[in-house]
Amino acid sequence: MKKKPSIATRAIHGKKLHAYKGPLSTPIYQTSTYRFESSDDAIRYSKGDTSVYVYSRYHNPSVEDVEEKLSVMNDADAAALFSSGMAAISTAILSIVKSGDEIISTPSLYGGTYRFFRDVLPLYNIKVKYVAADALSDISKLATRNTKLFYCESPTNPTVGIVDLHKAIVEVQKAGKKSGTKIFTMIDNTFATCLYQSPFTIGFDAIVESATKYIGGHSDILAGVVVGKKEYIKNVRHLAKYLGGCADPFAAFLLSRSLKTFQLRVDKQSENALMLAKHFEKHSKVSRIFYPGLQSHPQHAIAKKQMSGYGAMVCLEVKGGVKSAVKVCDSLKVAVNAMSLGGAETLVSIPVYSSHVNMSGEELAKHGVTPGMIRISIGAEGIDDLIEDFEQALKGI
Ligand SMILES: Cc1ncc(COP(=O)(O)O)c(C=O)c1O
Repeated sequence: MKKKPSIATRAIHGKKLHAYKGPLSTPIYQTSTYRFESSDDAIRYSKGDTSVYVYSRYHNPSVEDVEEKLSVMNDADAAALFSSGMAAISTAILSIVKSGDEIISTPSLYGGTYRFFRDVLPLYNIKVKYVAADALSDISKLATRNTKLFYCESPTNPTVGIVDLHKAIVEVQKAGKKSGTKIFTMIDNTFATCLYQSPFTIGFDAIVESATKYIGGHSDILAGVVVGKKEYIKNVRHLAKYLGGCADPFAAFLLSRSLKTFQLRVDKQSENALMLAKHFEKHSKVSRIFYPGLQSHPQHAIAKKQMSGYGAMVCLEVKGGVKSAVKVCDSLKVAVNAMSLGGAETLVSIPVYSSHVNMSGEELAKHGVTPGMIRISIGAEGIDDLIEDFEQALKGI
């Protein structure tokens, strides 16, 4: 092939494009350990030869197949697969920061990540400072010699807010020069996926993603991934050995299978999302609707600059607050009232009762979350069925 294969091709074949001999689908290596041919294998392993299969918490061929695909899809050196998005995120972060270090992050984050920053990292003397997405030039003011990581999520969960990624990288570099440190940059790319956003070309050092969502795409497995440079992923793997959040071979098999339809699914879901968002933009029962592909989205211009598609997450704020939101969610007949996202089924959830539970009014305001919001993960159903479903549910409020 002369030019680089598309993301769809890379998702289906990984690196096994030319004259590769072997099973078409990677088998499920459902094993915890591996037979050594002789103790020579153990000796080689003890001397650091990572090609020797020893134990499935370290290596597993089904898992490696997915890691290879995700690294080539992201145009990266390497990827490490985990048992969940949070296992990936926590291991990725703890591979960079230690006691006494500081993180600068944008505040609009998946609730689990935010609570990890708020409740867990301080126990290990790791401080997180927040910079508003519309005040990224403050990064220099916040950075100190101890700042080791800049972290962000874009689009954000649940309000699909956009962080200007180019500006963030420029500001982090400026801050690093001023404080005389290298600040590592990491982004949660779960909502956009590599199909619509390429953080490495913008200058990010690492990507984390909940593979439970669009990569898995069928709401039937939990997984997470960290993607980056070889040396960094080596450190991540080292820590993962001890934290133990390794991916399961059966989940890896399902992921490999899911990747074959990755682009088909995500494109269709995103097309549905734009149509649904446009349809309900001026609805009498809707006070606000957030979708980065709408011209009315506050950061549409930034999204257009840094994304090649807008994804399939929509945030709808209904008139009448949380009572109305509950009524709408309970009246839907096609869309499902369930907490995850990214699958073929349209799912709805109320952030104040789900991803953003356990947060004060002040914290919710910082995240831009209001009680009347419904987060919609648009699926691959027929768009007419979805529009009719939301129309009838909204009629009831
Ligand atoms: C943006 C984002 N990142 C990370 C996670 C955590 O992923 P997991 O549930 O696979 O641990 C989620 C989960 O909803 C998420 O929405």
